[in-house]
This record gives sequence, structure tokens and C-alpha cells, in this order.
Amino acid sequence: MNAAVVSVCVMLVLFVTRETASISQELQAAANAWQGSLPCGGWNCECAARQQSCCCAAAQIDELEEQMFTRLLNSFNALSELKTNIEQITACRGVAFTASMSQMFGCFGPFTSDLPIPYSNTTLNHGNGYNPALGIFTAPCAGVFSFSLTVYSNKLSEGQRLYQRVALVRQGRSEVATWEDNREDAEDSATQTVLFSLRVGEQVYAQLMSGREICGDIWGRNIFSGYILYPAES
Ligand SMILES: *[C@@H]1O[C@H](CO)[C@@H](O)[C@H](O)[C@H]1NC(C)=O
Repeated sequence: MNAAVVSVCVMLVLFVTRETASISQELQAAANAWQGSLPCGGWNCECAARQQSCCCAAAQIDELEEQMFTRLLNSFNALSELKTNIEQITACRGVAFTASMSQMFGCFGPFTSDLPIPYSNTTLNHGNGYNPALGIFTAPCAGVFSFSLTVYSNKLSEGQRLYQRVALVRQGRSEVATWEDNREDAEDSATQTVLFSLRVGEQVYAQLMSGREICGDIWGRNIFSGYILYPAES
């Protein structure tokens, strides 16, 4: 894309320079060949080129140059806007991550406060939006993103209390969650999928509620994943 923008620029510059050069050459040749009297009363040696062959069209040439300059400037501005748009879109092209909790025989939790879950086993992290040490995804660009969360817990035998609540938190606000509070099953799982429109730098993570726990996940079944659906203007 950048190469295309540059070559359009170069072609534009070549075209405009060549056009200006050939026009002034033609005017000079016409002035040199002129035998009669000059409508402006004589050679204008103050014209832009300051050459003997300058004619009384100096003012028009100046105006033409001014117009060329303005047109060129407008083209450069349009191209730089286009470049910004392209950069915004390409920065968002490949944003996707998948991470799971590492093998765990005991429990994660309970804790005395809500805590982001660090899904440390990252199997995919295109665009490096996901931080496996913190379990936090930070939007590298503005757009609509899809997030998925699977919560799995196993207490190994019935009669014990499966007790979890995991929320997807966006910018510090709990948006959706999965719940479990029962003594009838030894293990259970739940999945949530949600779309968020994010601005650059906004953060999303899965948070275990205080007092609750995730247990016995020896297969990495607790998974947090996300990807960009499409970029949007920031
Ligand atoms: C990480 O995930 C991969 C793919 O699911 C799995 O093969 C590997 O054993 C996991 N590693 C740990 C440390 O849990």
C-alpha cells in the first residue's frame, strides 16, 4: 500500500514538473521568435526565470505556478489523509488471541477481592494485544471486537460446592458473566461470547469474583479469546 502511495506521488510530481517545464520552454521559444512590438511594452526581466527570453507573460506564468503549487499541495494533503486511513486499517488487520489457564490440580481462588485471571498459556497472540502475565487485552486500535470466555471447574466429587463467578470486564466495568453455585455436579462449564466496540487502549479481561474459585482444570479448559471483527474510526 505504501509503495503504491509513493509511486502515485512520484508520478504526480514528474507530470506537473514536466508540464510546467514544457510550457515555459514553449513560451521562451515563442518570445525569442517574436519580431513585432510587445503588447506590454518590452521584455520583463523580473519574471520568475530571470532570463533574456522572458516575455510579458511573466504574470501569467507566476499565476500558473501558483495554481500548480496549490494543486500539488492539495494532492499531498489528500495523500497524507489516505495514508493515515490505510495505517489505521492495516494496524488492525491481524488482531487475535487465545489463552488458557495452565494445568491446575488445586484451585485458583478464593481471594478476598475481585482478581483478573491470568490465562498464561497463550497459543495465539497476533498483534500482541494480549498480556499473558496480567490476563489483560488492550485494544491496539479502535474497532469492534469479539470476546469469548469459557469457565470450567471440577471439584472431583459430588456434594462439594462448585462456586464461581467470572465476569468479562471492560474498562473496569463488569459487562457479562458466568455463574455457578451448586453441590449436585462434580464439574461444570459455561461459555460467554460478546461484542465490544473499543477505542484504542481500552482494556478487557476476565475477572474472578472475590470468595469464589476455579478448580481442577488439568486440561486447560478455561479459555479466554478474542479477535477484531472490523476496525472503526478512533
Ligand atoms: C498450553 O496449551 C497447549 C494447547 O492447548 C497445550 O498443549 C499445553 O499443554 C498447554 N501448556 C500448559 C503449561 O498448560
